[in-house]
Amino acid sequence: MISTRIKTLASFVEKDDVVLDIGTDHGYLCIYLKENNLCQDVLASDINKNALMSAQNNFQKRNLDIKCYLSDGFNNIDSYYNTSVIAGMGTSTILNIIKSDKCPSKLIIDSHNELPKLRLNLNKLGFKIVQEKVVLEKNHYYVIMLVLKGKQQLTETEILFGISNNLAYYKYLLAKNKELINVVPEEKKKELIYQNEILTGLIEKK
Ligand SMILES: C[S@@+](CC[C@H](N)C(=O)[O-])C[C@H]1O[C@@H](n2cnc3c(N)ncnc32)[C@H](O)[C@@H]1O
Repeated sequence: MISTRIKTLASFVEKDDVVLDIGTDHGYLCIYLKENNLCQDVLASDINKNALMSAQNNFQKRNLDIKCYLSDGFNNIDSYYNTSVIAGMGTSTILNIIKSDKCPSKLIIDSHNELPKLRLNLNKLGFKIVQEKVVLEKNHYYVIMLVLKGKQQLTETEILFGISNNLAYYKYLLAKNKELINVVPEEKKKELIYQNEILTGLIEKK
């Protein structure tokens, strides 16, 4: 069964999009997009040969014609695309990938770490975060971002906690910080107390 996270990634895809799924792994997103006819075309890529073979097998089993590329980021892609999904990787990898001049103007991003660093650097690289959707799956929160070329001035609060406006997510972050406060060094403690004041404000506003 297709996961809520994959469905949420797909929810940002539009009919006219030609989607390149970077780091496709099993290829589930490509399969979902293609079988449901959600966009013009889909391309799959991965840096890892085995991952790409797993995607190719899954496409063949379903009789889906999806072009596959062994590629680090955009490097080896020689077909047209206007949208890229980069999901299930860390922020440093994602930022390295999107620094390429082959990066399209529409991105759908799901990073599993360092979200403030991601938001800050997306802005620095000339991208704006248009929307963030938060998904809770198997006790883990995922933040899925729709990102377009453009200027944006995010506030400190938005850089830290995003623009999802999701109360349950803010409460989760606050509870996590409160646990962390007991185990981190003194200088980090101050930072967490400061963050918790902001989170409490966000929660009270809702
Ligand atoms: C955890 S999987 C995520 C799979 C899928 N995108 C998802 O969100 O469910 C991460 C995949 O990204 C691939 N990957 C990591 N760095 C990459 C890069 N620089 N270029 C392309 N693929 C990369 C890995 O090989 C792996 O298959």
